[in-house]
This record gives sequence, structure tokens and C-alpha cells, in this order.
Amino acid sequence: MTALSVIGCGYLGAVHAACMAKLGHDVVGIDVDEAKIASLQAGRAPFFEPGFPELLAESLATGRLSFTTDMAPAQGRSVHFVCVGTPQRAGEFAADLRYVDASVDSLAPFLSPGDLVVGKSTVPVGTAARLTEVVQAVQPEANLAWNPEFLREGFAVKDTLTPDRLVYGLPAGAAGDRAKQQLDEVYATPLSTGTPLVTADLATAELVKAAANSFLATKISFINAMAEVCEATGADVTLLADAIGHDPRIGRRFLNAGLGFGGGCLPKDIRAFMARAGELGADQALTFLREIDAINMRRRVRMVDLAREVCGGSIVGARIAVLGAAFKPDSDDIRDSPALNVSAQMQLQGATVVVTDPEAVTNARKQWPGLRFADTVDEAAAGADLVLLLTEWREYVEIDPTELGRIVGEKRMLDGRNALQPSVWRSAGWTYRA
Ligand code: UGA
Repeated sequence: MTALSVIGCGYLGAVHAACMAKLGHDVVGIDVDEAKIASLQAGRAPFFEPGFPELLAESLATGRLSFTTDMAPAQGRSVHFVCVGTPQRAGEFAADLRYVDASVDSLAPFLSPGDLVVGKSTVPVGTAARLTEVVQAVQPEANLAWNPEFLREGFAVKDTLTPDRLVYGLPAGAAGDRAKQQLDEVYATPLSTGTPLVTADLATAELVKAAANSFLATKISFINAMAEVCEATGADVTLLADAIGHDPRIGRRFLNAGLGFGGGCLPKDIRAFMARAGELGADQALTFLREIDAINMRRRVRMVDLAREVCGGSIVGARIAVLGAAFKPDSDDIRDSPALNVSAQMQLQGATVVVTDPEAVTNARKQWPGLRFADTVDEAAAGADLVLLLTEWREYVEIDPTELGRIVGEKRMLDGRNALQPSVWRSAGWTYRA
């Protein structure tokens, strides 16, 4: 058992803290957001994540997990995870490191000799080396490692307890050996069940995360580029993805064409990666990511064009129902949500748009006051001239087209995620486009 602190209790930190307690460690979660800490300490998850409320309650009940806004309880613990956000800087591509810097600055005075600070946030390469100096200026006998996180929202608990792989970025020499030993202790359970471990230097570990998310974004934009060509020829991109995906060198996962990627990670991570490469004089290496981003953003415009096409050339005055506000299913996260972007574009172009989502309506209402929201599909779709499926929640994929057909004004379905069965919708009398 290791005594740990987890600094930053958003998606990543809160899940990490609860999972570490589940693995038997003694954990304090620290965040400056009082409301978030009060909620977590009371056992209420501040965000929607399947399995997390149960894990939180279980971990709090063991007494091995607590939450506070005070940094002092980090003192006396030996491993400190930094899990704060690194959003995109306003008006720029680069990552905003102010939360990482602030958390390391406020943690440093509480460090003891031999402590290990472990960065988990997604940062530009070179950050870990810089933070090592910040830490050691205050506590020369503390060390810093980088241990990037690969969890997906919606699968966060599973991805943390049984990760695909663990990556340690370690300092050189004896400090690195000791840091590895400390991390091995923390991750003893996943390591004992065969989780692959890659140990590397700090810069490589930082880059692994940027490379992984860039590759995932590239896969999605690749298939969306194929979708553009398919649309131009009447070919079927889903069948194409199935066919090329059978080649194990390609693989079928992350080849779902549609509205493209959003969320708090892929879009900002590829941009921050380009910005960092530019600073390093290696911008040419990543110019392809500009195209990946452009293909992705084009999907959103294309969706609005399709809506117009399906409505006979104009959406002015059309009543449009949007199913989905979250950036993906099983999440209430609306950061850079393609669904809300498309909804807002259609609203700006003169349509009356009503958006619904099983979990994200509360968040969306706060941030998109100009849009209309409904709590149920029936309410959103009543009298609609067009229905758009923009986030493929299971309950939307399972909608009975005959029943929905009784509520809408016009039976027109635009499936932005290629998630529905065209033949089923068409035989229920719908005009179906995807
Ligand atoms: C992503 C990565 O998948 C995680 O490995 C990583 O740890 C995380 O970012 C992070 O950096 O923290 P996440 O943002 O939760 O995870 O979501 P994904 O499942 O990657 O989906 C991202 C977006 O791509 C969603 O909008 C989704 O709808 C879209 N997508 C995904 C597609 O359009 N097509 C696909 O085939 C797959």
C-alpha cells in the first residue's frame, strides 16, 4: 500500500483517485474547486461516467479515499499524481499549462526527500524536464516521472483498473530506478496480471500520448475522407471500413465514419502537438495533422449541408430535432461537441432546433443558452421536419422508427453517426440519409 495524493479531480483525477483506492492505496484527492470536492467527498460524482458512482462510494467507504481543497494533506505521502487539465489556449493552438504549473508550484513545498511527482496530464514534450527543475528547486531530493493516461471517457474505470499498457517516463540513473520501483508498487495489481509496461525517458513518455491521440484522430479523419469520396460516388463507407478493417494491420476500431471527433482531448491534442512541433523546428513533420483537423471540421459543415438537402434546399423555419449533445455516447461531456456545433450552425441558418440527450442536457443548457433543449426524444421530435442523430447513444440507436414516425411532422432521418440500419428506417417510411 502506498500513500498517494492526486492533484486535480476532473474526469482523469477523480477516476484515478478512486481506482487507486480500489487497488488498496491510501489516497487523497485535491482540487481547488470547492463544489467539486464537496460533491466527491459526499459520494456524488460531478460528471457522468458509467461505474464511477459505485466505485466512488465503495472507495470512500473503505476509508482509503478522501477529498480536500487543501494541499497540506499531500505532505507525508510518497507519490503525487498531477491530473489537472491542459486545455487549448484561447485563440491559439498551444496547450494552456497554467493549471499544471500552478499545481506543481503549490505541491512543491509539501514534498519530502524521496517523494515522486508523477505527471499524468497531456503536455507538450519538454514539460516534464522543466517541471523537474521546478520541483527540485524547492525539494532537491524529490523526483518527477511522466506516466501518461490513455483512458477513454465512458470506459474510464475499466481503462484505469485494467489498462492496455502502462508507460513510465523516468529520469536517468538512480533516480529513475527508484521512480520505477515506486510506480511498480502503485501499479502492482495491473502489472501482476500481465499489463504491458514500457519504460522510457521523460520526453518519449510525453510524446507517446501525443502520438497515440494523433494516430486515433488520423484514423477517424482517414475514414471520413473516404466517406467524402464514397458520398461522391454512391459507395458505402461502412462496408468499406468493414472490408479494410479485416486486415489486422489496419483494424476495424476507430474507423466509424460520420460527424468526426470532438471532446476535450483529440481536437486540442493534435493542435497542441502541431504547435509544439513548430516551436521545436519540426513543424513540417506534423503538417498532415492540419489536414486531419480540416477533414474533421468539414464533417460538421457537411452535416448542415445534408440537412438542407434533405429538407428540399432550405432549413429556414424548419423544425429540427437533434438526438445527442454529448461529444460521444456514455458521457455528459460537451467540450467541442460536434453535435452542438451542428445544432448551433443550423439554428444560425434559421432553423428551430431542439436538442435532447440522455445525460448532457444540463451541461449543454448552461453553455449554449441560445439553443433549445428537451428532456425526452418525444418532446424534441414532436412535429419535427427533420431528425438528426448526432451522438449514437444506445437508446437512440434502438429507437423504433414506426413509433417515432407517429410523433414527427416529416419522416426524415439524417444519421450523422452511421449508427442506424437504413433498411429498417426506409421500410418504416422514412427518408433516411447518413
Ligand atoms: C481519447 C482517447 O481515445 C483516449 O485513449 C485518451 O486517453 C483520451 O482521448 C485523452 O486524451 O484523455 P476520448 O476523448 O474519451 O478518448 O474519446 P474517444 O473514444 O477517443 O472519442 C473521441 C471522438 O472521436 C468522439 O467524438 C467520437 O465520437 C469520435 N469517433 C471515435 C469517431 O468519430 N469515429 C470513431 O471510429 C471513433
